[in-house]
Amino acid sequence: MVRTKFCDVFGVEHPIVQGGMQWVGRAELVSAVANAGGLGFLTALTQPTPEALAKEIVRCRELTDKPFGVNLTILPSINPPPYGEYRDVIVESGVPVVETAGFNPAEHLPAFRAGGVKVLHKCTSVRHAVKAQTLGVDGISIDGFECAGHPGEDDIPGLVLIPAAAERITIPMLASGGFADARGLVAALALGADGINMGTRFLATRESPVHDNVKRRLVEAGERETELIFRPLRNTARVSRNAVSSEVVSILDNGGKFEDVRELVAGARGRQVFETGDLDLGVWTAGMVQGLIRDVPTVAELISRIVTEAGELIEGRLAATVRSGK
Ligand SMILES: Cc1cc2nc3c(=O)[nH]c(=O)nc-3n(C[C@H](O)[C@H](O)[C@H](O)COP(=O)(O)O)c2cc1C
Repeated sequence: MVRTKFCDVFGVEHPIVQGGMQWVGRAELVSAVANAGGLGFLTALTQPTPEALAKEIVRCRELTDKPFGVNLTILPSINPPPYGEYRDVIVESGVPVVETAGFNPAEHLPAFRAGGVKVLHKCTSVRHAVKAQTLGVDGISIDGFECAGHPGEDDIPGLVLIPAAAERITIPMLASGGFADARGLVAALALGADGINMGTRFLATRESPVHDNVKRRLVEAGERETELIFRPLRNTARVSRNAVSSEVVSILDNGGKFEDVRELVAGARGRQVFETGDLDLGVWTAGMVQGLIRDVPTVAELISRIVTEAGELIEGRLAATVRSGK
């Protein structure tokens, strides 16, 4: 049993979070995380409209009576989705917590605060974490360079980023990026975090609503088999390395513009990978931590294994190390 101030502030049993995942953060997975005592986030923009999000929240409530949240990812876009309307659905549905990501959440904080929704802000640098803390969010998720999705442009891995952030952050803070097991949780606690946020590890669970080929690929793939796309555009994203991701990198490295890769990176193609299991249909998000994934457990098995082994690790090998050093 591992309990931290994150559990107290966010009302969950274990300091283990399933971050928002486009096309994946649906009721099946999120309710499974909640039922296992973790904190799961539905992904707002996976739903085509704010009304559809409201229905997904109802569906999730039918599958669990434990707390869960919604992720609202705000990214630069030519045709931005109606963020304000998605935010209002989150507030009106009575969801207790939102995970904001991608952009400074200042504009949306008054509405969340008025509705009593706690804000867990995910960011990739110490300066953005400090800024969000100053704005009054309730918790921080700090995503290291290892992470799936958007690691930012600073390239600071968790081993430095997490303790550097911990020196400045006084509210509950989660370490994110590269976590998959008890060793990671214990390391995160040692580095000054109050728990862990995971994406890729939850993608490879039984309840994750993606094709088995994707899960099998995560078990087989090594830590070197991800790729950073969009580096020249300063909008870096870490994805599973495949024929499409390598083509995108090559086009942009040779002076191509976003228009030249727009069709290759279309969200609809990535979604099809998850639905059909054809791994080369488009780009799809995965993190370096795939190199540590060996199986496809249920969410309950995964969370229970992490917290049990974390206790054993702390009381066993780590305690023995201290004794032998005396
Ligand atoms: C398939 C997939 C989709 C993701 N989509 C989003 C997203 O829409 N919004 C977001 O904030 N983070 C997204 N993430 C990032 C995760 O929430 C989390 O921060 C990240 O996966 C942590 O790194 P890890 O994969 O090493 O655990 C995604 C991750 C994955 C694997």
